[in-house]
Amino acid sequence: MDALEEQAGRLYDQKQYPEALDIYLSLAKKYPKTEKYSIFCGNCYDALGQTEEAIRYYKKASKINPVSTTSLLALANLYYNNEDYKAACKFSNMILQKSKNNVSALLILGNVAYCQKQFDKAFALYEKVYHLDGSSYIALINMANTCYDLGKYVKAVDFASQAIRLYSSSVDAYIILGNSYTELGKLEKAEASLLKALSFRADNPWIYNALSRVYQKMEDYKSALSFAWKSVLFGGNVQDDQHINFGYLLYECAEDGKEELAKHYARKWQEAFLDNKVVEFMAGAVLEDKKIKKADPHYIEKIFDIFAIDFENTLKGLDYMAPEYVAESVKKNFKKDFWKKTNYLDLGCGTGMCAQKVKKYIGWSTITGIDLSQKMLDQAAQKGIYKRLEQVEIVGFLERDMQEYQLITAADVLTYFGDLRSVFEGVASRLELGGLFVFSISENLFTTDDFLLMPSGRFVHNMDYVMTLLKKCGYAKLSQERKALRNEGDKVVWGYVVAAEKVIIIEK
Ligand SMILES: C[S@@+](CC[C@H](N)C(=O)[O-])C[C@H]1O[C@@H](n2cnc3c(N)ncnc32)[C@H](O)[C@@H]1O
Repeated sequence: MDALEEQAGRLYDQKQYPEALDIYLSLAKKYPKTEKYSIFCGNCYDALGQTEEAIRYYKKASKINPVSTTSLLALANLYYNNEDYKAACKFSNMILQKSKNNVSALLILGNVAYCQKQFDKAFALYEKVYHLDGSSYIALINMANTCYDLGKYVKAVDFASQAIRLYSSSVDAYIILGNSYTELGKLEKAEASLLKALSFRADNPWIYNALSRVYQKMEDYKSALSFAWKSVLFGGNVQDDQHINFGYLLYECAEDGKEELAKHYARKWQEAFLDNKVVEFMAGAVLEDKKIKKADPHYIEKIFDIFAIDFENTLKGLDYMAPEYVAESVKKNFKKDFWKKTNYLDLGCGTGMCAQKVKKYIGWSTITGIDLSQKMLDQAAQKGIYKRLEQVEIVGFLERDMQEYQLITAADVLTYFGDLRSVFEGVASRLELGGLFVFSISENLFTTDDFLLMPSGRFVHNMDYVMTLLKKCGYAKLSQERKALRNEGDKVVWGYVVAAEKVIIIEK
């Protein structure tokens, strides 16, 4: 091997990429017909984040040696890592055309299918790799993980155990094993596997989280909270997901009658993360903080980004009826023949469940949907019913928007607002005189307060407050129906679906 090449290899291993690149570039110039120097240049550019240059050099290598699969694999990996799955598949398939059992290409195709949540397809590809190479740890761990996602927990246990036999300190295998045992209700085994994972990686917040879930299932909230607390501390201020998990655990702990324990941790949490808005809001909800008048926008964006993918399925499971009831109320109260065309605004449109149902009762229409969560909006866009979708906060949007609407709806959205004045005024400012506002609202069955923030992070409202405020903001009530809006745990959330017409223009 050329001494220079050796030096460049050492520099690359020491992550001194610019220095390694200089040498490889000179070698590529000196030996333009040698494939490997172009590939090494590509590797350095890739490590430096210069993707375009990396691609250029890998393609150059592929031209130098058209029968080789090395540069194609580098390209497939690069595109996969950059989440360009189409290109990753294209290059993986090119490799398979040259060598149909290429394990690396099959693994990339499996990973792409996994990332696209095509778990059956991913499993079949990993299984193929395993049949080709029975000692492939990576195939086994991926099969275990995919079985877990497919809800095939017994199989996941089996594959994870096999992976451990090949590689006895595999943290990933112990985590999959532990999580699968948790799902199978074998809690002692889950605890033992996760503690083993922790013995290898004591700083991994997700392992603390998984253990916390085991203790919660054992109804040992003290241990559950102590482990969840560690996951929050290891996650630090930046990991909102850990905070959100912790907030939900505090809520469930309070719901299970352990309010004092939940409050103790909520205070500790607030003190430790003073500037974190998610913490401020979620801890405030558990502490029944009456100063909070509205859910924090960053918190809303985060939780709905997390829920977006499973939102509709999850809500079906909770007998979620708000969109249906809002649509029924529109059908009853909207004077569709009065307007030539309906400009309809769907506040907190989410995945578009409400507008989808409302649409058929409003005739010729243009629909705008707004929401804080881009991932919810992405789902809404797939329904193809909205002319305009914007990721904005409701009150700010209503203050800035210049359009006039004949219909505005808010299904299961006002529960994220305590004080409703700014929304009611904002909606009135955008509604045409005679226009209709239909919304659902959860009922405060617990206190005489106008609104009350629940440990779940949702507000419930007193109906006298809602009705008085509507009137003050220039609306006349057309209908108000009490409904079971959805379930929360094993409880029914009762509330109202209100239809109000804008009858007066109130100057501010
Ligand atoms: C429970 S979902 C309901 C979605 C939809 N209306 C439906 O019925 O399926 C509540 C939605 O309101 C959005 N949201 C809550 N507060 C908001 C705010 N202040 N500004 C914009 N969107 C908000 C959330 O992001 C979420 O998508």
